[in-house]
Amino acid sequence: MTAPVRKRILTGDRPTGKLHLGHYVGSLKNRVKLQYEYETFILVADVQALSTHWDRPEMVRQTVHEVVLDYLAVGIDPSVSTICIQSMIPQIAELTVFYGLFTRMNKLRHNPTLKSEAQSYGYIKGDDIVMGFDRLTYGFFGYPISQAADITFVRAHLVPVGEDQVPHIELCRDIVGWFNQLYGRGREIIPQPEALVGDVPRLCGLDGQSKMGKSLGNAVLLSDDDESILAAVMRAVTDPQRIRRNDPGHPEVCNVFAYHRIFSPEEEVTCIERDCRSGVLGCVEDKSRLAKRLQEFVAPFRARRAEWEKRPHEVWDVLKTGTERARREGEATLELVREAMGIKYW
Ligand code: TRP
Repeated sequence: MTAPVRKRILTGDRPTGKLHLGHYVGSLKNRVKLQYEYETFILVADVQALSTHWDRPEMVRQTVHEVVLDYLAVGIDPSVSTICIQSMIPQIAELTVFYGLFTRMNKLRHNPTLKSEAQSYGYIKGDDIVMGFDRLTYGFFGYPISQAADITFVRAHLVPVGEDQVPHIELCRDIVGWFNQLYGRGREIIPQPEALVGDVPRLCGLDGQSKMGKSLGNAVLLSDDDESILAAVMRAVTDPQRIRRNDPGHPEVCNVFAYHRIFSPEEEVTCIERDCRSGVLGCVEDKSRLAKRLQEFVAPFRARRAEWEKRPHEVWDVLKTGTERARREGEATLELVREAMGIKYW
């Protein structure tokens, strides 16, 4: 077998809701940019979504379609990128089992992303993982292993992700290292992937409290219309020290200003900073300017989405064709893996 000519990207998302600006600046932007340079695979991680929503498969199923639409809307080009769905790729499940054989529990137990998620779902309190043993499921606790299988079933080199995913890529690198050492006898069977974090590694939600999240009510969706964006931005928290309209503002502590830095042109950012500090620019006016910028930002995505929405069968075809292609890659990888492990019996 020959090595792939172009280096490969694999990345993906859980279909638990439509994608938002945080996804875009953290990862989608990089995927769109790099898809002509790297052979790109984008995985809709429905099994991973079910690790927290096993009782709501119909919600996950509906969201799959929305997430594929989001990909197409931001400019993932299905003629060069492969969009595929996790549950229909059995090789990912097989690799998950194999990797689980030699990955130590401690590697999962100390994973900061897994811990904070477990806390947010109320599975554990503080650091007390043991207390959560009656609540944590095997599938949830082990999903980072399955994510390593996601990345490696196509032997990917690069993984564009938000900052919160970096611990999972680290684990994947460890797993690949152990695998190659154990079974490769000096040969690299699977390449060790690198994480690629976007220019805005962690976009704070509009509430200024936590990272942008679809379930937290602090998000701007890539598919939101102008009114929803305006309403969401108007609810945003600004400078807490600024009580009256003409009080001088403190852009350095204002979440809305942080957004301007990302989404408004540089000259405008300079003016806003000056006029906020002097008290000339009030928060309401400042927010309506931001809303306008965000509306402009997502407008081309919404236009492209609307085109695809007219052809839902084609959207489904993109996913089906991509999944078939991905499975073929998975089969090739599993041949190598079984051979290396000495469990290719015939
Ligand atoms: N865990 C990722 C998230 O919550 C989604 C994901 C699943 C993923 N499999 C992946 C990301 C493989 C990168 C590579 O956003």
